[in-house]
Amino acid sequence: MKKIQPSLDQQDIICAETPAPPNAMVVFGASGDLAHRKLIPSIFNIFAQELLDEKFYLLGCGRTKLTDDDFRETAKQAIQESHSGASAKDLIAFAEKLYYIEGDYDDAAFYESIKAKLVLLDKKHKIDGCHIFYLAVPPLLYTQIVEHLGRSTLSCAAESDSRQRARLVIEKPFGRDLQSSTELNDGVSRCFDESQIYRIDHYLGKETVQNILMFRFANTIFEPVWNRNYIDHIQITMAESIGIEHRGGYYDKAGAIRDIFQNHMLQILALVAMEPLALFEADPIRDEKVKLLRSIRPFNLDKLDSFIVRGQYGPGAVDGKQVAGYRDEPDINPQSKTETFVAAKLFIDNWRWKDVPFYLRAGKRLAHKDTEIAITFKQVPHSMFASVGLDDMPANILVLQIQPEEGLSLQFQAKRPGSKICMSTLNMNFNYKSVFLVDMPEAYQRLLLDCMVGDQTLFSRYDSVEIAWQLLMPVLESWENDDSAPYEYPAGSESFPQADKLIESDSRKWRKLAEI
Ligand code: BG6
Repeated sequence: MKKIQPSLDQQDIICAETPAPPNAMVVFGASGDLAHRKLIPSIFNIFAQELLDEKFYLLGCGRTKLTDDDFRETAKQAIQESHSGASAKDLIAFAEKLYYIEGDYDDAAFYESIKAKLVLLDKKHKIDGCHIFYLAVPPLLYTQIVEHLGRSTLSCAAESDSRQRARLVIEKPFGRDLQSSTELNDGVSRCFDESQIYRIDHYLGKETVQNILMFRFANTIFEPVWNRNYIDHIQITMAESIGIEHRGGYYDKAGAIRDIFQNHMLQILALVAMEPLALFEADPIRDEKVKLLRSIRPFNLDKLDSFIVRGQYGPGAVDGKQVAGYRDEPDINPQSKTETFVAAKLFIDNWRWKDVPFYLRAGKRLAHKDTEIAITFKQVPHSMFASVGLDDMPANILVLQIQPEEGLSLQFQAKRPGSKICMSTLNMNFNYKSVFLVDMPEAYQRLLLDCMVGDQTLFSRYDSVEIAWQLLMPVLESWENDDSAPYEYPAGSESFPQADKLIESDSRKWRKLAEI
């Protein structure tokens, strides 16, 4: 089938990219995995695209003993591992912007040394912008580091010029339940104002996730049908074929609800379902997301299994390879009840969405990696082709494909050549890579640049984090107090019976995971 591709008229491309102003980044956990795999390569990409200010420098902080030169070498290695195209000239020029300081995160003297080093480096690089503190460390250390930043006045919340106020970047998970999240937030907000805090949910940095708002609100044709009058239901899927990798220690205390559902899934849901706004600015967008999250109907605890179910992968095969079950993975309690798959049905009690089910599923060790949002429209109210046996016309389905392929597709009915009344379901596809001819940038690149520019649009504000926990706490508590274990599904499956029942009892079906 021939794909219908949109034409790309260069004249029509509207791009607004703001280069970073002069500022410096201080990375705690600079010798760790996150810095190596994501942060350093992403900052290098910003540099290679000439969007990094020439005065920028990065001070790595960590417990590992390293000299500036050692750190530069590990950074170069990290960049080369992430993309082979980096030129030697760029690598050398970028490495000159990197420095390192070693110390103990719980020692006040460490922060005094950081402060003194920043004074020297600011002078050397002629920086008069702000310091961005990035906590690439385990969440347990967040409060401790933030308190030291406050005590040492490195957080400089009192600075009147907002461009010079320090910024703090923290990664999800923001707590492991409502209470710990509130405690974390109280600790952080004693030293940093909300306008200084950048909470990273890396899904919001993905191009295809950002496109949800462009698609909905930069076109006129979708908004009139984006509601309960035309939409039958929406499915949001985040299927992964990988397991828990080397993160057993963290994952066994988290599970799919805390790891994915509380943040990535609910943020995507909010973007799909929120109301339009007057201005594409951080707070109006975040206000609408919060309004939407607040409208989600609380789970009915008397019939919890009809609204949310959990599974855990057992041994099985993925991509033709035998893999261990969850309880046999390293660092996992052999009796663990931690869920690796969650399927849920949510309702949004507002004028637009009343009674439209949103089916969400997220799982590890499934048959394929597939993240997508599928909007199924209502069937035609009457088939005029019923007399020739075409009385059950398939519904139109719009799919926003997030990954591994990024694109859009619209499924519709059309006449087939041949007999007079003969119809087929066609797919109109648009694939980002084949149209824009570029690889999708790493989500961190977008988020780091936005943080340097001071744009909080793609970062989670605390109220949305809190509402998400409020919604999910009754479920977590109920599962914790329940003796039953999650359903064991074989690794490499697409689903499991309870998850199927949740949607099939409404006479609907999960979409097949796309095999790409
Ligand atoms: C992370 C989760 O936030 O997102 C991981 O902690 C998950 O468990 C990952 O694998 C998925 O991200 P991506 O970008 O690979 O879809």
